[in-house]
Amino acid sequence: MRILLIGDIVGKPGVKIVCQAVPALRLRESLDLVIANAENSADGSGISPSIYKKLTAAGVDCITLGDHIYRRNEIRPLLETESNIVKPANYPESAPGRTSAVVTAANGTRVGVISVMGRVFMRPVDCPFSAVDRVLGEMPEDVLVRLVDVHAEATSDKQLMGRHLDGRVTAVLGTHTHVTTADERVLPNGTAFQCDVGMTGPHESILGRRIDRVLETTLTFQPTHFDVATDDIRLCGTIVDCDPSTGKATAIRRLVVSQAESDALVQPPTKETPLM
Ligand SMILES: [Fe+2]
Ligand SMILES: [Fe+2]
Repeated sequence: MRILLIGDIVGKPGVKIVCQAVPALRLRESLDLVIANAENSADGSGISPSIYKKLTAAGVDCITLGDHIYRRNEIRPLLETESNIVKPANYPESAPGRTSAVVTAANGTRVGVISVMGRVFMRPVDCPFSAVDRVLGEMPEDVLVRLVDVHAEATSDKQLMGRHLDGRVTAVLGTHTHVTTADERVLPNGTAFQCDVGMTGPHESILGRRIDRVLETTLTFQPTHFDVATDDIRLCGTIVDCDPSTGKATAIRRLVVSQAESDALVQPPTKETPLM
């Protein structure tokens, strides 16, 4: 079976390309399950209930988040009521949201989804390694296909999580840096791993934000608004193939869909002019 994790969706451009491309990508790539990190989907910070509805209606089966999870107050009730959106598992117990989700893929396989935050260069949180062990222990034993989104800044943090979970989960895939890494592989005991699956949104930017604004603030220390950029929209993610009877990964590959490719995915085939 085949699972796609879409990297951090940034703002309207990111949401738009996901909604446009995912229905066609599900068919073209024979995807059984689509998971998306949507922590930056609401104007670059957080997620709103309306964006949650748009993404799930487009064919995103499960949503992970990260350090921007609570930027929009209105998402908090939804984090408690919906079963296919998770908070970082190493956030405080009293923080709104569930620590894992079990969603059913198109082939009928139940898939466990967990998100954990790293601790290097990030806000202090509980140990992600013990948190993921605890949540995996609570997951039904017959859920063999399990994906962990490791939302972290440092590649070392992510590699350690990959090795910690190798053979115990199907995939450990990174998010948060908004930059795709070229290290995708299946680890020795059958866990697909990649430090970061990249960003879905405007790539003519600084991590999705307007270059001029971020540069101005960096150079002058004067606050500006880091508006979401507009150009070179791409959907970035990673596809994992696995055996649903064992939960072991068999292949991993990066996916990039440009705006032009996304447009072509949904274009009806044009009638060719007959040759005279
Ligand atoms: Fe993040
Ligand atoms: Fe992000």
